[in-house]
Amino acid sequence: MQMSTAHQPSPPFDQREFRNALGTFTTGVTIVTACSSDGKLIGVTANSFNSVSLDPPLVLWSLSKSSNSLAAFEAAEYWAVHILSHDQDQLATHFSKRAHDKFAGLDLETGMGGAPLLDGCTTRMQCKTAYRYDGGDHIIMVGEVMHFEHSDIAPLVYQRGNYAIATRKELADEAEALIKATAASDSFDENSMSYLLGSAYFHLYGKLREFGALQGLNDAEFFVLNTLAARNGRSLAELNRLFVYAGHTPLINVLDDMTARGLLQVVVDQGERNERGLFYLTAIGQALAQEIANAGKQTELALLGSLGAVDTIALRTLLRRFITLTDEGKLPGE
Ligand SMILES: Cc1cc2nc3c(=O)[nH]c(=O)nc-3n(C[C@H](O)[C@H](O)[C@H](O)COP(=O)(O)O)c2cc1C
Repeated sequence: MQMSTAHQPSPPFDQREFRNALGTFTTGVTIVTACSSDGKLIGVTANSFNSVSLDPPLVLWSLSKSSNSLAAFEAAEYWAVHILSHDQDQLATHFSKRAHDKFAGLDLETGMGGAPLLDGCTTRMQCKTAYRYDGGDHIIMVGEVMHFEHSDIAPLVYQRGNYAIATRKELADEAEALIKATAASDSFDENSMSYLLGSAYFHLYGKLREFGALQGLNDAEFFVLNTLAARNGRSLAELNRLFVYAGHTPLINVLDDMTARGLLQVVVDQGERNERGLFYLTAIGQALAQEIANAGKQTELALLGSLGAVDTIALRTLLRRFITLTDEGKLPGE
């Protein structure tokens, strides 16, 4: 990349481009709160937060001179910085809007100087104003950290105008190497996406299947139970289509067998349109499906626990994207 060495930007200075340039610097996201002298609670979303000094412990952030809360922050002796968790993007958006009362309906504690403390953040710092500087169209607030608490919750990230999550670089490198290796190889191998996705599904589903097997359910019955637990009341034609879609062979007798065992019931309320009526889980079937779902949830939680919060979010995000790319959302024959 070629960069200008001139100190002064050549006119005309393009503000939008400057914003875009600043957007390449990835930051966390904070909400800074305080209480005004007349007792009004104020708060703004700010990604200008940064560390300044360890001893004494100082942090800074800058506030736009156009902010409604400028006067109150300029007068505040104390303010609280909340470093947001990965799932608090809606809260960040909420506090970035000009609203009369941004705190309505929120769970709050009261911090130093009456500053409202928000819940669920990854880190909170209560600060005492140490210095204020003029910074062009912003004022720079430097605070001494009087009290702080932090957690392992993955933080929210802001990059190029978007909220994001951060994943470890070595994992991204691994994934890239995997993609390159797959692209380079002609034959189907252990690095191919089909193999990896299939294998992950096989192992996870295998663990869940164990719970079904303990209840005497074979693969097809397990599939029917889970499918009806997701939405009860499906016709034979629909179940058959889902069977084929999920790679099962159509097995009409399975339904009769499960009905005979008291897990399903057929309700003939659709007349001739659905020939044999709609299949529903009975109360026994629903209880069994719930039991399996609970056990499955525990297995999944344990697996994701070893993966860690950030990688779990990354995995979910990428799988959702991959599914959107590969699945048009239609079943064969629709
Ligand atoms: C991700 C993000 C980061 C922001 N960072 C800052 C900041 O560092 N300083 C600032 O003054 N405004 C920042 N803003 C804008 C303010 O949040 C917004 O102008 C303010 O909350 C408006 O309400 P107010 O007039 O009550 O202050 C940011 C907005 C977003 C969405």
